[in-house]
Amino acid sequence: MKTVITYGTFDLFHVGHVRLLKRLRNLGDRLVVGLSTDAFNELKGKSCVFPYEHRKEILLATQYVDDVFPEENWEQKRHDIMREEATIFAMGDDWAGKFDDLENICQVVYLPRTPDTSTTEIKQVFVKLKEERLHEVRNVSQHLNRLIEELL
Ligand code: CTP
Repeated sequence: MKTVITYGTFDLFHVGHVRLLKRLRNLGDRLVVGLSTDAFNELKGKSCVFPYEHRKEILLATQYVDDVFPEENWEQKRHDIMREEATIFAMGDDWAGKFDDLENICQVVYLPRTPDTSTTEIKQVFVKLKEERLHEVRNVSQHLNRLIEELL
């Protein structure tokens, strides 16, 4: 039984996450995910739309993830790898080189990210939509004000 271990936030679950998990699962027989807790994300300066329990439920609903455990700090990886008896530690290549020190206990792999999609980009789309909507509302209210002034 070959266990693969990975880490991440997996907020606003998207196709980049699906493709990564699929490739990770195909590297072995079992895939376990260290999912960043809300408190750990705050520490990293990241705010999540979906809370930990929802993100966990979504990951477990996929056909690729066998187990999810909380990632609460940067230092726990070595301990997790031993506990899970993982032989492959793998991440997307935005982390390339960052975890090479784990090579003395398992194989470390970085897989290419799916281009043009990320949680950050999805959040930016919502911010832009909100700004456009605000702009629209301002235009309408200015127009209404002008009409009222003309009537007075
Ligand atoms: N990932 C990927 N392809 C993408 C986005 C993410 O392969 N297009 C991978 C990352 O490399 C990481 C895992 O998915 O190994 C979880 O990444 P996470 O940071 O949760 O997702 P992002 O969409 O990158 O989120 P953010 O924009 O907040 O960094």
